[in-house]
Amino acid sequence: MTTTVPRPDSARSPLATLRKRAVRLAEMVTTPLLPVDYLDLFDPLRSGAALRGRIEAVLHETRDAASIVIRPGKDWLPHTPGQYVRIGIDIEGVRQWRAYSITSVLGRPDGCFTITVKAIPDGKVSNHLVHRARPGTIVQLDQATGEFCLPEQAPEKALFVTAGSGITPVMGILRNHAAQLSDTVLVHSAPTADDVVFGEELRQMAAEGRIRLIEQHTDSAGMLDARSIAELVPDLHERATWACGPVGMLEALEEHWASAGIADRLYTERFRPRILVTGEGGTVTFSRNGTTVEADGATPILDAAEEAGVLMPSGCRMGICFGCVLPLREGAVRDLRNGEITTAAPGDGVLIQTCVSAAAGACDIDH
Ligand SMILES: Cc1cc2nc3c(=O)[nH]c(=O)nc-3n(C[C@H](O)[C@H](O)[C@H](O)COP(=O)(O)OP(=O)(O)OC[C@H]3O[C@@H](n4cnc5c(N)ncnc54)[C@H](O)[C@@H]3O)c2cc1C
Ligand code: FES
Repeated sequence: MTTTVPRPDSARSPLATLRKRAVRLAEMVTTPLLPVDYLDLFDPLRSGAALRGRIEAVLHETRDAASIVIRPGKDWLPHTPGQYVRIGIDIEGVRQWRAYSITSVLGRPDGCFTITVKAIPDGKVSNHLVHRARPGTIVQLDQATGEFCLPEQAPEKALFVTAGSGITPVMGILRNHAAQLSDTVLVHSAPTADDVVFGEELRQMAAEGRIRLIEQHTDSAGMLDARSIAELVPDLHERATWACGPVGMLEALEEHWASAGIADRLYTERFRPRILVTGEGGTVTFSRNGTTVEADGATPILDAAEEAGVLMPSGCRMGICFGCVLPLREGAVRDLRNGEITTAAPGDGVLIQTCVSAAAGACDIDH
């Protein structure tokens, strides 16, 4: 049997000892900041640093949508088309996290990727990114993630149904999988022709015969329902379908596909959680912060807290990334997706997702 005895400092190589001393000296000189803080200032995208990106350009797509070109840090890993990335951006001194689908082609020569953001009324981050973000801004990043991607063996016939900003993950797929998708229909809805994000490029793809494009301009032609889509795409049952858009549209499609017995051929991506069950709210206390808010039973604790000025961890805001998890010290919360009640007695520290949990009576969050 061999026993490993840690080497005393004196036994390390003179170079390692020297390096250690140099770091200690640098720490003394730079206190209260650490040398690593200075490195972050000069090279925030370096390997080994927290993953960040730098906004290189903001390219306007429509009156309320823009593609943001981001140069990721050195540790960024290639994504799979259709995936999204969590972005943290400081707005008025508060770091806000949101999720955005990646829309660019893989392996751009400049090493950047793009997200495409549609500004929504009163939207904090989307309006900031579309109308106020400037090149040079540093954002926080997570590695790309998500399941809204083509399978390894692409389907012979594909259908994409999108509305508004729901085109973004599909554009990521179309731009990257031209060779694999030989028979593709895209049904896309937007208020007018000018509001179609990537309108010109999609029409060009259609002109080249890469896709069959069906545009629905809802201001003049109204919304498309599942039955009209079935009429426009008669071989819909033979197609694998990916859909992304408003919750109502996705629910209608899910119902139609289920009643046709082909629910397993429909893949959906949601940008917002499906809130199914609400109830009585209650008083929420953030014990470390010392803030107490009254929240109704339909408002996620995350939203109620931010409204009261409490700085909260967050990410996708729809229950998929777990970036908002905090311990519930005491009380009860309701999962807005299924009505499930979670309770905790003092000290239990049960973890809850604050973005999809509402107060169900008084509760105390360890934050
Ligand atoms: C996996 C995933 C991928 C996403 N990809 C994209 C993308 O590629 N492009 C894109 O533009 N957005 C995308 N989103 C949505 C994005 O993360 C934000 O939710 C959106 O930009 C709104 O954030 P905000 O800060 O502007 O709004 P907030 O300040 O958070 O909300 C303002 C108001 O708008 C409501 N609201 C929040 N989100 C939406 C929404 N999506 N639609 C309508 N009303 C909303 C809120 O309830 C609130 O009342 C994605 C979301 C997820 C979960
Ligand atoms: S913010 Fe992503 S799970 Fe709550």
